[in-house]
Amino acid sequence: MRKSCFDKLAPWYLFLETISFGNQLQQCRISQIAELKEVKNVLILGDGNGRFLESLLKSNCNAEIESLDISRNMIGLANARITPLPNNSQVVFIHTDVFDWNFPKCKYDLIVTNFFLDCFTYSELTNLLEKISLSLKPQGKLIYGDFNVPNSLLIKTLTSLLLYGMYLFFRIFTQISANSLYDPTSLLIENKFILKNEKYYLLSFLKSQLWIKN
Ligand SMILES: C[S@@+](CC[C@H](N)C(=O)[O-])C[C@H]1O[C@@H](n2cnc3c(N)ncnc32)[C@H](O)[C@@H]1O
Repeated sequence: MRKSCFDKLAPWYLFLETISFGNQLQQCRISQIAELKEVKNVLILGDGNGRFLESLLKSNCNAEIESLDISRNMIGLANARITPLPNNSQVVFIHTDVFDWNFPKCKYDLIVTNFFLDCFTYSELTNLLEKISLSLKPQGKLIYGDFNVPNSLLIKTLTSLLLYGMYLFFRIFTQISANSLYDPTSLLIENKFILKNEKYYLLSFLKSQLWIKN
């Protein structure tokens, strides 16, 4: 399995995101935040530079939050982002490869995967979604925010080309293992998740879904 490394890209990540997509990725990340008031134990996987984390803390969320990432530089950026916030002590950073981590059983009310599952191959996704499912409490929530290939033929062609370029870029600069986007819907259904809500952005090129573990 290839281990990705976002360390070199980390200082450029926000700039590249903003020139490519403006604020749309952030809109997508935080679009379900109003539904998350009651959560007590949260795990954010591949949290990156912590923009979702910052918004969650600012939403007066009282949860204990674990923010996991393989990139030391991304964790440094996320830590610097939340340091000025009064409730930053709710957060514990975990520096590890998600595939080396022992997911605790039945612990979390919420697991967040924003622009994270797209880094993995289908077999890695299968493995990861089983662990995510076992780590959530019954009725626990999963936020899945990621790229999407819309149905309309013209937009589908454009987005497929864009995704091809993005995967090429990320495989060269971060060594991610995936070389295309897998829609995890069928794996989530196999793992007994039910879709509660979904929102689309940027001509449906971005989607945010809230799934509930049955
Ligand atoms: C595309 S970035 C997304 C970051 C953030 N979630 C966002 O919304 O912008 C993917 C993140 O996942 C992390 N990552 C990739 N592979 C990982 C792995 N195997 N274990 C833990 N983190 C990983 C990267 O370091 C990076 O911060």
